[in-house]
Amino acid sequence: MRPEREFGMTPKDQKLRGKKCMTDKTSKLSPIRAAVIGHPVGHSLSPLIHRHWITTYGLSGSYDAIDVAPAELATGIASFVAEGYAGFNVTVPHKQAVMALCDTCDPAARAIGAVNTVVISGGKPHGRNTDAAGFIMNLKESLPGFSFTDARALVLGAGGAARAVVYGLQQEGVSAIRVTNRTAERAQALGDDFGLEVVSWDEKEAALSDVTLLVNTTALGMTGQPSLTLDLSALAPGAAVYDIVYKPLMTPLLCAAKDRGNPIVTGIGMLLHQAGPAFEAWFGIAPAVTPALRRTVEEAAR
Ligand code: ATR
Repeated sequence: MRPEREFGMTPKDQKLRGKKCMTDKTSKLSPIRAAVIGHPVGHSLSPLIHRHWITTYGLSGSYDAIDVAPAELATGIASFVAEGYAGFNVTVPHKQAVMALCDTCDPAARAIGAVNTVVISGGKPHGRNTDAAGFIMNLKESLPGFSFTDARALVLGAGGAARAVVYGLQQEGVSAIRVTNRTAERAQALGDDFGLEVVSWDEKEAALSDVTLLVNTTALGMTGQPSLTLDLSALAPGAAVYDIVYKPLMTPLLCAAKDRGNPIVTGIGMLLHQAGPAFEAWFGIAPAVTPALRRTVEEAAR
């Protein structure tokens, strides 16, 4: 157990602590501990990202990948709280189940229906979702001129990632969003929850003609999965194509879009940018997503 004062750190406390760690590596404060939980979890690139920032900012802390089986989720979270962890990331298959074990969930997590970041404060786990923010930050960084106010988006897929993408776009003021998915019921459920137009999976190509942003949130194109079969002929030359798949970095969809001259956005930046707010909440420093870090993570993703 860590000392009682470690529990319930306010953001201000954490900021002070972050600054202290940055300027005084001999700080008497005990190291800040964070982790990613999943089952399995060995594939996660989060340790690479967070450890890079811990080293870069000279912090006293750690970030581990911890395999937690579904049956052990509640006891695992209780242990993190008891051991004084600052928090943890959540990956497959716990993103939904962890919500019920959090004391509070932020509006993004509630709307998306999933938690990817837990901040432990006041001795309680608090759920957040930073995927939507990561998706948007990556889009803004990759295509600084992209206009959200005039955007017309088509989102492929209707899983948790699609919900985060739609939530992020709506937060930025995008009102014209269509969704399409192999399983029509899931597309309809997403459409109903967020007030979207639903397009049949068989008619997605016809729906491309007036979009300014096409987003793939399906598993198609990922290493080991079939490619996404999509004829881009109807897509306007200036329309942006964003694939949140980052393994491979250049998916067949992105290659096809690039060949036609469409602006593209790769998925690795979403992974990097969803990590930033979590790191800041635990360590008190808003970390930079530098080209060097991006290259390191891209290399590891290969
Ligand atoms: P995530 O949280 O990453 O979104 P998910 O909830 O499992 O994961 O969703 C995966 C998405 O990829 C879904 O939209 C899924 O379509 P279904 O709802 O029809 O399953 C989509 N997907 C996966 N494999 C697919 C395939 N072979 N063809 C079309 N869509 C596929």
